[in-house]
Amino acid sequence: MAPLIVANWKMNPATLKEAVTLFSAVKEAGAVICPPFVYLSALKANGAQDCFWENPPAGGGAYTGEVSPQMLKNLGVEYVLIGHSERRKYQGETNEVAEKKLKAALAAGLKPILCIDKISQLPKDIKEGFIVAYEPLFAIGTGKPCSFEMADEMIVAIKNKVKVTVLYGGSVNSQNAADYIKKAHCDGLLVGGASLKPAEFIDIVKNAC
Ligand code: PGA
Repeated sequence: MAPLIVANWKMNPATLKEAVTLFSAVKEAGAVICPPFVYLSALKANGAQDCFWENPPAGGGAYTGEVSPQMLKNLGVEYVLIGHSERRKYQGETNEVAEKKLKAALAAGLKPILCIDKISQLPKDIKEGFIVAYEPLFAIGTGKPCSFEMADEMIVAIKNKVKVTVLYGGSVNSQNAADYIKKAHCDGLLVGGASLKPAEFIDIVKNAC
């Protein structure tokens, strides 16, 4: 199976115009693109960066500022990042919250991508076929990628626990993308900073696939 490449734009870019330009430059690459919520409907993107932890039966409810998994599904979104380390750091998200989000996303028919940096963050009832992104904290947004050996050790340990799809994330670029796939047994990549540079991101996809 072709590796799953996911672009996490984080809180970028600052205008819809720039988002449209960036999206048109990378959409043919066939990756999952996760822009900020405000650009989702204009771009018809297939990924989101977060969702609320409850999926009310009506698809909505009295939760100011939140976006329900059902709303994302209704927009045509397919994948959603859950428990990204920046949400854990800045929004105080815990493993419990991430697990609730995971369940709510699944209930809405989305494909959640659970981001972890330790095996202990895997939910007890994690099932075969789920998608997990291993992202060591020291490598996220730092330009200091994890060694292939260390990534391999973690990814194999996760897969030995449960047969899930495992992505690697943290300072991925066009130079190291292929080696993560070949040497670290990962099934794809979660790309932050480099996904905002169209030529670099397209090279990541080409080199990884
Ligand atoms: P980075 O971010 O590629 O900029 O290190 C990865 C991520 O946060 O998912």
